[in-house]
Amino acid sequence: MANIGQGIDRVDGRLKVIGRAHYAAEFTVPDVVHAVLVQSTIGAGAITGFDLAAAQKMPGVLAIITPDNAPKLHTQGGAQQTVRAPLLQDRDIHYNGQHVAVVVAETLEQADAAGALVRVQYRRDEPITSMDAVLDQAYAPKNFRNGERSPDSRRGDPDAAFDGAAVKVDATYITPIEHHNPMEPHATIARWDGNRLTVWTATQGISGAQQTLAGLFGIDKADVHVICPYVGGGFGCKGNTWPPATLAAMAAKVVGKPVKLALTRAQMFTSNGYRPRTVQKLRFAADDQGHLVSMRHDGFSQMSQPVLGEFAEPVGLATEMLYACPNVAVTHRLVATNASLPTYMRAPGLSSGDFALESAIDELAVALKQDPLEFRLRNYTEQEPHLNRPFASKVLRECYRQGADAFGWSRRSHEPRAMRDGNILIGWGMATSTYPTHRMPASVHVRVAANGTALVQVGTQDIGTGTYTVMSQIAADELGIPVERIQFELGDSAFPHAPVSGGSMTVASVGPAVKAACEAVRAKLQGDAGVPVPELLVRGNTPFVEATSEAKPGEEEKRYAMHAFGAQFAEVRIDADLGEIRVSRFVGAFDAGRVMNAKTARSQLIGGIVYGLGMALLEETHVDGETGRIVNANIAEYLVPVNADVPDIQTIIVPNDELTSNPLGAKGIGELPMVGVAAAVANAVYHATGVRVRKVPIRIEDLLV
Ligand code: MOS
Repeated sequence: MANIGQGIDRVDGRLKVIGRAHYAAEFTVPDVVHAVLVQSTIGAGAITGFDLAAAQKMPGVLAIITPDNAPKLHTQGGAQQTVRAPLLQDRDIHYNGQHVAVVVAETLEQADAAGALVRVQYRRDEPITSMDAVLDQAYAPKNFRNGERSPDSRRGDPDAAFDGAAVKVDATYITPIEHHNPMEPHATIARWDGNRLTVWTATQGISGAQQTLAGLFGIDKADVHVICPYVGGGFGCKGNTWPPATLAAMAAKVVGKPVKLALTRAQMFTSNGYRPRTVQKLRFAADDQGHLVSMRHDGFSQMSQPVLGEFAEPVGLATEMLYACPNVAVTHRLVATNASLPTYMRAPGLSSGDFALESAIDELAVALKQDPLEFRLRNYTEQEPHLNRPFASKVLRECYRQGADAFGWSRRSHEPRAMRDGNILIGWGMATSTYPTHRMPASVHVRVAANGTALVQVGTQDIGTGTYTVMSQIAADELGIPVERIQFELGDSAFPHAPVSGGSMTVASVGPAVKAACEAVRAKLQGDAGVPVPELLVRGNTPFVEATSEAKPGEEEKRYAMHAFGAQFAEVRIDADLGEIRVSRFVGAFDAGRVMNAKTARSQLIGGIVYGLGMALLEETHVDGETGRIVNANIAEYLVPVNADVPDIQTIIVPNDELTSNPLGAKGIGELPMVGVAAAVANAVYHATGVRVRKVPIRIEDLLV
């Protein structure tokens, strides 16, 4: 009974379709009242006073919480190390849209109406609204990758090698601010029972939320109960515990009733992070045979004011490890602006960084007059060159081959502007993808009954990716029980601990713990491996058996480099007169390790490629240069791909049965497929038009040269 790998339907699919899957804002909590956020209308400065008289007179108003009366939080502890976001603890304004007050009323409409009447007086400073103006004030991150490594790395002597090289590219690439825009906006219902806090909140990490809220309110972790059975997408913006969750709990404390606080779509642009703008300076060089001799990647990413925390977009990570090259230097710098704190967004660092890296590689291939795929194969590395370790596995060569075959790459003309269909210029471009294989410790509880059912519980999350389904498949195989008879529960901090659902690591982290707990159950019964566990219970006349097990990474993490890989191929069709760009075909071939569910995996791959198409051609958050206000804080003017933007997408999963990385052999599939898409499209645009666009999103006007 091999369930793993089968493309079975989502076990929670029916509940979602009939509306019975309850998301954070949808829980029925008796006596709940409603909170709305009031936001600053200036980009920098301080609050000098409030006029609350009109708002306070409005019907239904229970409280107006401002920095003048807000309960003091324990902000000095470890809980807020990454997000020291504004929590009404002082009158300083660091960005336009910062929360300055919370209005609580009996109904949402009453809270909204009162909130609109809150008047705030300010002392205005001049906001820094663009990183480009202050690039010379860049500084090194203090806590890069949680302090696990330096923001800079170097091997060999890249500058000398560059100076002496035959063929060079020296160029700057720019990526914009992007916002995640999951379908479900962030929402929290908070209820206090004495000193115990319960929150129903939309989060990618219930244990992080538990720890952060406990720290801020100065209570025991065990006294914070976080519930989150379903998440309507996160893409990174629900990874940290952002101010709205804390402010909901604060409001509930102030009014002594449960409080619901749901963000508006516009507030999704100011209240839970974004992908920061990057400016990346690359200097790459090759010898006349097409061997890379020097790679320098200096990355600048836009930040908030440092007082709000720190987030550095790790744009150089792929440059360090993707190709064989003896001389490589990578730096990461931050540029403070008056904006909210940036955060992880699908394939953080890798997607922005890979756009620059794989564009520059294409430019070098063009300069060398080599086929871009040939050039990459010439610089292929079997050894991870930064850590100087073998890869646990790497079937990227096979991704290149299968992707190129499916796409028809060998029929590509070398020269740009050489492939036409009437007035339409056709371009073919490709790029490499990679994403690290992460894993963290996780624990799982399993209880199997003699009636043939099993209950599996773990404090993980399903952010729409299929955790319920895939974990049920793993348990079913281990226990010898049909998938339908597995009751899989997650999203409750009362369950055993699991890591944040980020970094594409849920299957690799939680899957082995499910497996371990099932094995522990079986070991207790001392039965033959092939016999279903319920049958062992019947034989032994035992009503049930249960076990809790932890699984965690081991020595393999020190011996091997672990990455997923992919090869992305794009065809664009561009109107020669108008410059209109359409992506007409896309092929992605991936080394994602072992696939748990063919259907959810394919959905992830397609979704990631679509996300990448958004980066290539559409997505960009615009900030008003005068006020620092986001001007397209809605999904009408923040463009995301719709059906008409998405071509036929072919996804290929290249078999890889390696089990060194983790016991399930899963390399992570959530972020990998978006990496390289923007570069593949940009390279195709060059091939179609001869115009090299070094920024995304690529617009019609970029081609009018
Ligand atoms: Mo992801 S950006 O690690 O949720």
